[in-house]
Amino acid sequence: MKAVRVHAFGQPPQVDEIEAPHPARGRTIVEMRAATVGHIDRTVWSGSFLQHPPLPYIPGVEAAGIVRSSERFAAGARVWMRGCGLGIRTDGTWCESIAAPDEAVEKLPDAMSMELGSAFFSPCTSAWVALHDVGRLQPGERLLVTGASGAVGSITVQLSLDMGARVYAVVRDAEQAARLPPAATAVFEDGLAGSSAVDVLVDTVGGALLAAALPRVAPGGRAVLVGYTGGHALSLDLPALLQRDVALLPLNMMRREAAGRAAVPELMRRLGDGRLRLDVTTFPLHEAGTALAWLAQRGHRGRAVLVPGT
Ligand SMILES: NC(=O)c1ccc[n+]([C@@H]2O[C@H](COP(=O)([O-])OP(=O)(O)OC[C@H]3O[C@@H](n4cnc5c(N)ncnc54)[C@H](OP(=O)(O)O)[C@@H]3O)[C@@H](O)[C@H]2O)c1
Repeated sequence: MKAVRVHAFGQPPQVDEIEAPHPARGRTIVEMRAATVGHIDRTVWSGSFLQHPPLPYIPGVEAAGIVRSSERFAAGARVWMRGCGLGIRTDGTWCESIAAPDEAVEKLPDAMSMELGSAFFSPCTSAWVALHDVGRLQPGERLLVTGASGAVGSITVQLSLDMGARVYAVVRDAEQAARLPPAATAVFEDGLAGSSAVDVLVDTVGGALLAAALPRVAPGGRAVLVGYTGGHALSLDLPALLQRDVALLPLNMMRREAAGRAAVPELMRRLGDGRLRLDVTTFPLHEAGTALAWLAQRGHRGRAVLVPGT
């Protein structure tokens, strides 16, 4: 079978012909239909993550497909998978077929496409946990979201509007503003300084944009820190921060995996009936390198998904 493998960190992955997986106790053999390319895959591929599988390895932490053999699922069942170290400690999902640990595999509702089933978990559960568990957003509160055109940002905007929040979405240009839900207010980056005060900030960008957004949080407010593609460092005026009593709250979805999983049934309902929307762009399996580059490009939308057999 075909599998995408990384032979050297940061180098283009290549498609290799390898032995197909065999049935084994505690393993579910899944024929892959969609395998996500996300930021975590880029980080592991770069070699800079805390852990990585031994080289050469198959990347991919999330996917969806059809069960071919299992002690837990009927053959033909539609499933999604993540966890148990897939793509982080062991070979991952960028392949035609996988013997996944049973605990990593869950049923996928018929209403959800394979592409969405593969891609939804990280952006949707991160946004949910950022709002509910970490930021503790309340109906009627004001929320500022940076990187609002991104996967986590756009889901954060949709979920918070649904919670009855007043949502201010930071975008780079008019094209990104035009894609926001009508109930959200667009805030251009250069207009941030004059924008409304908010109760909660969800920052998915970091760096200079976080520094500019932080003063918009009203005294007693909360700032949820999600990502740092815009910069790793933040310089703080401590007296100002203490006087304004703003809580800086990191989101760590590895530690909050259980809260994310608990939200999955509700998130799947909303994705299935169209209340929640996540853009997905598909690439053939052999274009994994292109998908990795696409994810790092300015202006990409949502998630990249590799589709074997195309
Ligand atoms: N803490 C956690 O547990 C956790 C969980 C999930 C994700 N994350 C992290 O959260 C971040 C966002 O994830 P995502 O899936 O939403 O990524 P994404 O889909 O690539 O979106 C990134 C967003 O940030 C914007 N952006 C990037 N660099 C920027 C800059 N220098 N200035 C202004 N805007 C900038 C992008 O706008 P353009 O398209 O215009 O560049 C886009 O709107 C990633 O770093 C990811 O690793 C963390």
